Amino acid sequence: MDDPAIAELAQALAQREKDGLARTRRRVEGPQGPRVTIDGRTLLAFASNDYLGLANDPAIVDAACAGARRYGVGSGASHLIVGHGAAHDALERELAAFVAPCDGARALLFSSGYLANLAILTALASRNDAIFADRLNHACLNDGALLSRARLHRYAHGDVAALALRIGERSGSVGARRRFIATDAVFSMDGDIAPLPGLLDLARRHDAWLVVDDAHGFGVLGGGRGSLAHFGLRSDRIVYMGTLGKAAGVAGAFVAAHPTVTETLVQTARPYIYTTAAPPLMAEALRASLALIAGGEARRAHLAALIAAFRERAAALPWPLLPSQTPIQPLVTGDAATAVAVSEALLEQGVYVPAIRPPTVPANTARLRVSLSAAHTLSDVHALADALERAAAGAGS
Ligand SMILES: Cc1ncc(COP(=O)(O)O)c(C=O)c1O
Repeated sequence: MDDPAIAELAQALAQREKDGLARTRRRVEGPQGPRVTIDGRTLLAFASNDYLGLANDPAIVDAACAGARRYGVGSGASHLIVGHGAAHDALERELAAFVAPCDGARALLFSSGYLANLAILTALASRNDAIFADRLNHACLNDGALLSRARLHRYAHGDVAALALRIGERSGSVGARRRFIATDAVFSMDGDIAPLPGLLDLARRHDAWLVVDDAHGFGVLGGGRGSLAHFGLRSDRIVYMGTLGKAAGVAGAFVAAHPTVTETLVQTARPYIYTTAAPPLMAEALRASLALIAGGEARRAHLAALIAAFRERAAALPWPLLPSQTPIQPLVTGDAATAVAVSEALLEQGVYVPAIRPPTVPANTARLRVSLSAAHTLSDVHALADALERAAAGAGS
């Protein structure tokens, strides 16, 4: 290879491959669903975050098509130039009323959850502030904290007592102009729910804000309203972020908070200001999705039954199942090689469950991230458990 700059990159890639850390994209042909076609093979998949089975829902597809006919396909500009349309506006109002994190809350749409988290933390926090973050938070909360230049304190996972000590310490809180507690509401690779009541209590006592990333709770918990409704929490000090590409089945995200907070984001959040608005047809699709989420008790009840059935069967497997009551059901193999081997053994049986390895999860906690959807049937779940049993027998022999 002639160019040394390319050769240097190629060498780093080769090292990743050697370390077993190279990632590959699978090319899905056709829509998301319990069965996906990859490279011409139809697989029973437990891999997406389409928890309510809405990603290919006909009513949402129709709403997207109607939205395209009415508004075209492009938004044309950022929200603050000429890209903010009637469809975005209506969706924001509906989301704010549905999640209602405080009286008079307003919602603000973003193109992705990643951007929304960057926006919240960079617009509200800066150099003289302190952010207290759960150690297992999603990468984009960490990235937002780093970009904000605030002091970042990571506390032990889900440990309110450890956070209470740190937030009370001189180093962390005294002198900090603003304080933030930032947490995933449902942890993306573990499936457990953050102790939000304890965190809100600490936030109140230490004059802090509570930033709640409900990427995996919105649509699923609290009658679909998300993790705040699950616990019955409301406060002016909560900055709520929900994503719209997981249970909602489409794409994008929103922040719901006190109107002064959302207005601060409109005025100052660079990931809001300097990017093209999502197409209005997406907002129309999401309005249809929100109606299905609101009336989605049967889907959620079915999902709960699938979760219970899977947990019962998985208890007999050799790998520990994390204590999760959400559709994210991780089986921890420990080392990455075993996770990959089991995932491949499942693939041979026509079942797709992704192996999740460091650095996405901490060292020695590689896992199979089983993700259930209301679109699965009970017999799909039994087929998965049967395939896992066969993979375990193969691994042991
Ligand atoms: C906890 C959490 N927050 C935020 C995101 C980012 O959301 P988005 O995919 O909409 O960028 C994800 C996943 O992608 C997530 O798991």
